[in-house]
Amino acid sequence: MSDSRIGGLYRRSIGDRIDELEARGWLAPADAETLREGRAVLGVGGAERMIENVIGVFGLPLAVAPNFVIDGRDYVVPMVVEEPSVVAALANAARLARAAGGFTVSCEESLLTGQVVLLGVADPDAAEGAIRAQRDALLAEADAVHPRLAARGGGVRDLELHRFDDGEGGTALALHIHVDTCDAMGANLVNTICERLAPRVAALCGGRPALRILSNLADRSLVTARVTYTLGSLAESGADPVAARDGIVAASRIAGADPYRAATHNKGIMNGIDAVAIATGNDWRAVEAGAHAWAARQGRYGPLATWRTGTDGSLEGEIRLPLKVGTVGGTLARNPAARLCLRLLDTGSARDLAGVMAAVGLAQNFAALRALATTGIQHGHMRLHARGKPAGSRVIAGPVDEPGTAAGKVILLGEHAVVYGRHALALPIPGAVTARVSAVRGTSRISVPDWHLEHPLAQADAPLSQLVARVLGELGLADTGYHIEIASQLPRGMGLGSSAAFAVALVRAFAAAAGIDVDPERTNAIAFECEHLAHGTPSGVDNTLATFARPMLFRHAGELEIRTLEPGQPPPLVIATSSGPGATAAQVAAVRARRTALAAHYDAVFDEMDALAIEGAALLEANDLDRLGRLMNLCHGLLNALEVSTPELEMMVRIARSAGAAGAKLTGAGGGGSVVALCPGNAAAVAQALEDAGFPTLVPAVS
Ligand code: MEV
Repeated sequence: MSDSRIGGLYRRSIGDRIDELEARGWLAPADAETLREGRAVLGVGGAERMIENVIGVFGLPLAVAPNFVIDGRDYVVPMVVEEPSVVAALANAARLARAAGGFTVSCEESLLTGQVVLLGVADPDAAEGAIRAQRDALLAEADAVHPRLAARGGGVRDLELHRFDDGEGGTALALHIHVDTCDAMGANLVNTICERLAPRVAALCGGRPALRILSNLADRSLVTARVTYTLGSLAESGADPVAARDGIVAASRIAGADPYRAATHNKGIMNGIDAVAIATGNDWRAVEAGAHAWAARQGRYGPLATWRTGTDGSLEGEIRLPLKVGTVGGTLARNPAARLCLRLLDTGSARDLAGVMAAVGLAQNFAALRALATTGIQHGHMRLHARGKPAGSRVIAGPVDEPGTAAGKVILLGEHAVVYGRHALALPIPGAVTARVSAVRGTSRISVPDWHLEHPLAQADAPLSQLVARVLGELGLADTGYHIEIASQLPRGMGLGSSAAFAVALVRAFAAAAGIDVDPERTNAIAFECEHLAHGTPSGVDNTLATFARPMLFRHAGELEIRTLEPGQPPPLVIATSSGPGATAAQVAAVRARRTALAAHYDAVFDEMDALAIEGAALLEANDLDRLGRLMNLCHGLLNALEVSTPELEMMVRIARSAGAAGAKLTGAGGGGSVVALCPGNAAAVAQALEDAGFPTLVPAVS
């Protein structure tokens, strides 16, 4: 890793800062480009898939604090925070800490605790004995809930029984289940374990389960960070170092004695910790709840960080708090900015991320106390310009590190013609769909939270249940009871290949779960079979893209011909979805009927589209995006001639072109669905124009 000591970042333009971070290797070129184009922002479409009743996306500044050295390694820390001075103060505190080697962190264990709380236990002693006697069986049962967790090196580590007053003169019992959730935040994992174990625990103890949920007082995930500030570093800016040190130590003592001050002391710490939690897509309310509960653990609220004078007169600080955070899965996998920030931090594991957050909290506390002990807090406030950022759009980046992942597709040139043996130029939307499969007792269930679907499999809509049945059949697996969960960044029926991506993701997830080796060719063939269910006479382009996730020139004229392409750089695309889904099977059938009546004319159109696709592939590889855009415009005209466009799609195409797209066209079968725009240098503006007109956008990172 390169040197994180970067002076004067605050004096530079945003573009210069991004350039500097890229030049030093902190930002990968693709991430730097994403930031330059204002695309590192959750779009309305992505937000809609996260929570309910969305009406927009709320922006917050994303910044970096350079200069950190933690356990001998440099870090540039991403922060999302709206309060002036927090970032500048942190960068300064990190810089001053370098004089004595920076921060050291330690974290003995990283376990998330679930609670099964029982009320009405008649004989708590007997209950405790029963739990002790069944401890091994309970551990095994809890571990069996998520077999793949154990395979990843995680699992249930410990059980503990707590007793407390139930508030009605009786005794409540809480069984604590301590789970190593690896790099995931793990809330869902642990909650499921609690729910599954509760009936058995209640039966053993003779009470009734009142609550089955994780505890945010994650005191089995305690992290400690330490730092030393030399008197030399405290003397900077002409301050009296001894007075500064003594002032900070006094402030620490006051926080220890006075809960009113401790609350503010800790608020300053959380300025930093929350900013990193938000930037990395973590649940900052969970982090907050844990921190404050820990601060009050001795029955009185106290400071999370303390400061004292070292034997050599330096200033020594220490923070200790629970930090159970994640670097994979859940919401953070859905937020493009969070993924980018995690790559920038490059911590490797969730434990390391917790260490960075603890160091940030300690540095932030130092900065606040130093200002309070010397010039006062108002003095150092930087004047910040109000900066307007484009709202941007949803970015779909590379594959998620999960077994059941598949790509979506976007056709740049040649849809419909491809059904008649002509070429199509198609690009993947990498990592767009992820399927997870776990064995359950009882009937199978399928959930697609992004589409607000959750059903027993037998009651799922026909396309989904048939798809799963076909995949199981092709893999030779019986339906012995599964929970299938599919995360889809692709909207349904929008011409972006969601059905093929589902098929490929399911094949991979079931194969991984069953330990079957299925090579990509076979995966593609199974997905093609599944596509017959969805589309009648599919060309095969969707399943091929879903499987191989490469830009390609595709043709299926008797036999499959694929030429994978190497674009000089990922083409800057914006995809926007219209208000209604396309109906691929119906559109393909309608074109077929019209072609029957006008075969020569339709074939002439298909031949022209074939030529466009072939030339477009060459232009893509030569990075001649302006000319490629013109070909897309021509292709759209031809698709309109085939009667698969709609007034809404025409309007979207016009908006994209007016906002500066080099080319824009409907993509997929039409009749609704999506448009794709090629936008060299102006993807953010085009996405914004479409979003402003009410069309959700997504911006694939094409590998
Ligand atoms: C302001 O956001 C945080 C401080 O109040 C923290 C403190 O007083 O220690 C400056």
